Amino acid sequence: MRLLLLGSGGREHALAWKIAQSPKIEKLYIAPGNAGTREVGENVPIKADDFPAIRRFVLENGIGMVVVGPEDPLVKGIYDYFKGDEALRNVPVIGPSKAGAVLEGSKEFAKGFMQRHHIPTARYKSVTAANVEEGLAFLETLEAPYVLKADGLCAGKGVLILPTLDEAKKELKEMLGGMFGNASATVVIEEFLSGIECSVFVLTDGKDYKILPEAKDYKRIGEGDKGLNTGGMGSVSPVPFADVAWMKKVEDCIIRPTVEGLAAEGIDYKGFIFFGLINVKGDPMVIEYNVRMGDPETETVMLRIQSDLVDLLEGVAEGNLSERRLDIDPRSAVCVMLVSGGYPEAYGKGFPISGIEDAKAGGSIVFHAGTAVKDGQVVTSGGRVIAVSSYGCCKVEALARSFENAGKIQFEKKYFRGDIGFDL
Ligand code: AMP
Ligand code: GLY
Repeated sequence: MRLLLLGSGGREHALAWKIAQSPKIEKLYIAPGNAGTREVGENVPIKADDFPAIRRFVLENGIGMVVVGPEDPLVKGIYDYFKGDEALRNVPVIGPSKAGAVLEGSKEFAKGFMQRHHIPTARYKSVTAANVEEGLAFLETLEAPYVLKADGLCAGKGVLILPTLDEAKKELKEMLGGMFGNASATVVIEEFLSGIECSVFVLTDGKDYKILPEAKDYKRIGEGDKGLNTGGMGSVSPVPFADVAWMKKVEDCIIRPTVEGLAAEGIDYKGFIFFGLINVKGDPMVIEYNVRMGDPETETVMLRIQSDLVDLLEGVAEGNLSERRLDIDPRSAVCVMLVSGGYPEAYGKGFPISGIEDAKAGGSIVFHAGTAVKDGQVVTSGGRVIAVSSYGCCKVEALARSFENAGKIQFEKKYFRGDIGFDL
C-alpha cells in the first residue's frame, strides 16, 4: 500500500518509523514531514491542512490510506472532505469526522458529551459574555485554585489555573473579552482536580477499540514540574499506577462509554482517541479528549506496539478491528525531548545539530521534531527539536540510556529536563 501521513513533528516521525516497518507498505509519504521523516519515507512539500493539494497528491500517486497526525486537519474536516468527493471517497482517512473532532475542538462540547454519557470529569459551567454573572457565581462555589478553559483550540495555551478567586474573576472577564480571540468567546470553568495525569490512547473503528500502551508526559519546562507549560518535555510508558485494576476502571467508566456514546450520537469516528486522564484518589477522571495521538507520548507508545500498525489501521478502515492483533512490548520506553533554549517563549532557529548518529549508536531511537535541512545540514527549526527515545528492561534503565544519548546530541542553547520519570 502507498500511505500518506500528514504532519511534521516528533509524533509524525514516530508514526512514520512504525508504519515504515510494516511489510504492507510499498511506499510511505509524509506531508510535509521533517528532516527525520526522510529517513523512513519521502517528504512531500504540502501543508497538512491544504486539502486541495492533498487531494491532487493522493489521486496522482495512487495513495491507499491517509493517516492524520495533528488535530488541525481533523477539526477542519479532512475526513468529510474525502467522504464528500467522488474520486476520494474510497481512500480511507484515519481520524474522526469533523463532528467527532469537536471532542477536541470544543471543550464545551466535550464536557457536555461526558455529562450525557456519565463519564467521570470535573464539575463545570460553560459561560459566554451573555451569562458572565452566572460564571462569577459558579466560581464562588468552587475552591482554589480555579481552572478556566477557552472553548476552542489555542495551541495548548487556552487553560489558565488561577490561585485566587479575584484573579479567576478578572481572567474570566478577559478571556470572554477576547484574550484568545474567538476561541475564548466561550469559557469552561472547572473544578480543580488533584492527582497524577496519565495519557491513554485507543484506536477505534467506531464499534470496537484497541487500548494502546498508556504514557505519562511532562508538560512543564522546568525540572520538578516547575515553570511554563510546553507541548511536552518527555514521556514514559508504562505508567506504574495504571495497573490492571485501574485500567479496568478506565475501560469500563471512560473508554467504552466514549466509543458507545459516539456511535449513539451518530458520530463517524475511525481513528485515535487520546484520553487525558487524572488519577483522583485511585479513580480515573477525564481532563480532556484529543482526537489524535499525543506528542511526546507517541515517541514512547510506538516503541511498545509489537504488532503491525498498518494492519491495525486497515482494521479501522475496514471496520473489522476486532479481528486484528495488538501485542504490546513488556519493556519500558521513555523519551527525553531536546528543546531550543528559550522555549516555550522566544528562541532562535537554524542552529546546526550534530551527534545524532552517536546517539543512535548508543542505543536510542532518535525522532526529529523541529528540524529542517539547510545546505545539506540538519538544523533546528522549532521549539521542541529532537526526541531521544529508548527501551529498557525498566524505566530506570531506559531513562539512563536516553539521558546519556541526549548528552551526545549538540546544538546551540540545547536544553532538556534531566528528571523525566522522577515522580513515578
Ligand atoms: P487541557 O488543555 O484541558 O489538557 O489542560 C491543560 C492542563 O491543565 C492539563 O494537562 C492539566 O495539567 C491542567 N488541568 C486542566 N484541567 C484541570 C482540572 N480540572 N484540574 C486540574 N488540572 C487541570
Ligand atoms: N502531550 C500532550 C498532547 O499531545 O496534547
